[in-house]
Amino acid sequence: MIVTIDGPAGAGKSSVARSLAKRLGFRFLDTGSMYRAVVLTAVRRNVPLDDATQLADLAASIRIDVDDNSTRVDGVDVSKAIRTGEITQIIVHAADNVAVREILSKRQREIASGHDVVTEGRDQGTVVFPDADCKIFLTASPEERARRRQADMEAGGESIDFEEVLRRQNRRDEEDYNRPIGRLQKANDAVEVSTDGMTRDEVLDELERIVLQHK
Ligand code: C5P
Repeated sequence: MIVTIDGPAGAGKSSVARSLAKRLGFRFLDTGSMYRAVVLTAVRRNVPLDDATQLADLAASIRIDVDDNSTRVDGVDVSKAIRTGEITQIIVHAADNVAVREILSKRQREIASGHDVVTEGRDQGTVVFPDADCKIFLTASPEERARRRQADMEAGGESIDFEEVLRRQNRRDEEDYNRPIGRLQKANDAVEVSTDGMTRDEVLDELERIVLQHK
């Protein structure tokens, strides 16, 4: 069974999707980490981010492995290095690159093949797994999402002003909703869940209920 969870940055997708996968005994696939891994590797290997062909060649030449707990590039654990604000700021180069999107979408299907998976991203229910058994579109208001993002960043040791988090988030929303391919969009057959005012456990219970309805 394939369960897709798409939605904007900061809606709580990663943490809820991971816990949901655990509850269901499914694998968890965090597809944002793959876009992050591509730009991180480009920076590390001095590949110019604005050269679309070189970036796509790089994406095609590396092996990205993602499991429930880690992201690896050619066997090297990059789980922590991909989570910085610096990487988030330059992610658009990979996310807007059509060839990179094709390479990563193919890899996502490979990773999921033959398994029960909860997969999380922007285009999972629309482009990567259009035939998924259960599609969820997870949202929250911009302020609530920015508050959560700020708390996450502070927990990770990065201190940042709320207004700055909101400004960056608005910019990322703008990019995510408007890219020509793989843009953030609710699939016609997705169930929308707005998490404003809900605790994490309430969200988890609601998602589990939706998945069980689609089994
Ligand atoms: O979810 P996360 O914040 O890690 O995603 C990082 C970025 O990667 C997103 O802002 C989006 O631009 C891009 N992304 C994407 N398609 C996906 C997952 C992430 O374009 N399936």
